[in-house]
Amino acid sequence: MQFIDVLKERHSCRSYLPTPLSDETIKKIVEGARLAPSAKNEQPWKFVCIKTETESKEISSIMANYYLSHKDDPKFRGHASIYATAKILESCPAIILVFENSDYIDKDKIRNISALLSIGAAVEHMALTATDLGLGSLWIADTYFVHKELSTYIQKHLRGTKYENFIDDGNRLICAMAVGEIAEPRHVTPRKSLDEILAIINN
Ligand SMILES: Cc1cc2nc3c(=O)[nH]c(=O)nc-3n(C[C@H](O)[C@H](O)[C@H](O)COP(=O)(O)O)c2cc1C
Repeated sequence: MQFIDVLKERHSCRSYLPTPLSDETIKKIVEGARLAPSAKNEQPWKFVCIKTETESKEISSIMANYYLSHKDDPKFRGHASIYATAKILESCPAIILVFENSDYIDKDKIRNISALLSIGAAVEHMALTATDLGLGSLWIADTYFVHKELSTYIQKHLRGTKYENFIDDGNRLICAMAVGEIAEPRHVTPRKSLDEILAIINN
């Protein structure tokens, strides 16, 4: 695919076929992230990919339960999307959880912001790589509300595996990405015009 077509084709996919993704496919997508730029080349990211139905359902239910226990709290108003996002995760074939490396948390503000910007670049690289592979993806920030619970859940799952200590309490969960074969017709979301968002200052 031409690069501009990859940009045009990428969209948030909210319905996936149950077809499993191979480890090779996940590696290609995360290779996209690995090649992303990062502030001072610090590469402040780690990725954990969930490909099992049981774990996807558990992640989904951690998010859904948070919604159900907070939905009547006035401070939570406007965040109901966490429930819809949880339902998408319940049945998507792969969830890539994106963690920040512990070294950057609670450092000075510029390093913290730079780390988040760098992670954003890596996540977008993954979305574009998935599109190039003909797959759908959904960038998810709704994990924010339960980032500690999900981090604890992942740490528990990695215990006793070759990834023991891959994630610890210092690794903050920043966001997630759902990936899989697309099961819904393409929808196009509106964009602001260039005139609204761009100023070019010439001599
Ligand atoms: C940082 C970020 C976080 C997002 N979080 C969510 C989310 O938690 N749930 C969801 O359904 N969509 C989420 N989205 C998808 C946006 O809603 C979507 O990108 C936007 O509406 C534009 O649509 P498009 O991606 O199809 O072009 C997120 C997108 C970004 C960039």
